[in-house]
Amino acid sequence: MRIKAAILFEQGLPRPYATSRPLVIEEVELDPPGPGEMLIEVAAAGLCHSDLSTIENQRPRPLPIVIGHEGAGIVREVGPGITDLKEGDHVVTVFAPSCGNCRYCVRGRPNICPTGNAFRAAGQLPTGVRRLKRLDGTPINHNSGLSLYAQYAVVARRSAVKIGKDIPLDDAAIFGCAVMTGAGAVLNTAGLQAGEQVAVVGLGGVGMNALFGAVAAGAERIIAIDTNPQKLELAKQWGATDVFLAGNEDCAAQVREATDGGVDTVIETAGSIPAMQLAIAITARGGSTISAGLPNINAQVSYFHASMVSEERSIRGSYMGSCVPERDLPRLLGLYRRGKLPVDKLKTSHITFDQINEGFDLLSDGAVLRQMLRPNA
Ligand SMILES: NC(=O)c1ccc[n+]([C@@H]2O[C@H](COP(=O)([O-])OP(=O)(O)OC[C@H]3O[C@@H](n4cnc5c(N)ncnc54)[C@H](O)[C@@H]3O)[C@@H](O)[C@H]2O)c1
Ligand SMILES: [Zn+2]
Ligand SMILES: [Zn+2]
Repeated sequence: MRIKAAILFEQGLPRPYATSRPLVIEEVELDPPGPGEMLIEVAAAGLCHSDLSTIENQRPRPLPIVIGHEGAGIVREVGPGITDLKEGDHVVTVFAPSCGNCRYCVRGRPNICPTGNAFRAAGQLPTGVRRLKRLDGTPINHNSGLSLYAQYAVVARRSAVKIGKDIPLDDAAIFGCAVMTGAGAVLNTAGLQAGEQVAVVGLGGVGMNALFGAVAAGAERIIAIDTNPQKLELAKQWGATDVFLAGNEDCAAQVREATDGGVDTVIETAGSIPAMQLAIAITARGGSTISAGLPNINAQVSYFHASMVSEERSIRGSYMGSCVPERDLPRLLGLYRRGKLPVDKLKTSHITFDQINEGFDLLSDGAVLRQMLRPNA
């Protein structure tokens, strides 16, 4: 079928994107779903910083590619072999493709499945194919086994989880990346318990969900940190007990002083090396620094190894919030229904294809939380 999609032909074009226009809106051909795949009408797709990083060339991707990895939609057709979903079902997409059979998948860690990751790196669906092509027949690569900046997407069965129809789809979309990543980092990776303390460094779409997760978990003290004072104001309204402005040299000392030597659990959700260094610097003895931010692929961080050992600190990555989507999306959506994950507050705007390049300028400026693309609006 012919659909409209936003294609990235070249990474690393200069800002402003309103002028360089890295995303080109084109009519493309989408093949029907094959075995184990389904066709989804994309209701909403979020503009996540990881998409911006792809545009910026922080991590090289096979080109051309249709990006967009956070979304929700409606199943329109199921391919052979899918018996548990049908036309009309609502789904949230899953951006970490997984095989379901490898040693990571069977241990409940599909988010780090190397088989799924290899297909993703090759720009394919986890079924090993590409379903998108230009009208001249040139194949187009998939992003995260999805490609959601498009009116429709063909995705593998494991790349989507069925949800209740009571959830507005543009709220549901945010669960596909920011919620699983942010709330998951707190609830799963950190395993934060009621009465504990936590700091969140970087208050974008992902970091605000870490904050919501910390409130939901019953954290006693929640320290929110960002370079943007407006994000600090919002964090205060949404449950942070203390806020600190990053970007000055005193920030780490101020946090350590206010917390009697540091915070037990620190979640880094900015995706920059200064933010990660700050996160390590404000972690207490015996504490954990958990990083969900994704900087440039070649970025390195240094830390004092002897104190890491003698003070029993840990530094840990968190990918897709250590989520098992089939297990965790129902749980996270349950929190949403109880008002504990108010992701509707994170929606800065609804945009159409015409506004997508400008949208990435705004995200790059740090001026917005989640802008939601409605490809069929
Ligand atoms: N691990 C995962 O599974 C996963 C999933 C999605 C996104 N990400 C990554 O998470 C990061 C955040 O994504 P997002 O969409 O929320 O981005 P965003 O741009 O909405 O938010 C980033 C925030 O960090 C703040 N910030 C920047 N530098 C800072 C510093 N030195 N100290 C404190 N705050 C600082 C910005 O002001 C902004 O508020 C990105 O790196 C993204 O690629 C990771
Ligand atoms: Zn994302
Ligand atoms: Zn696997």
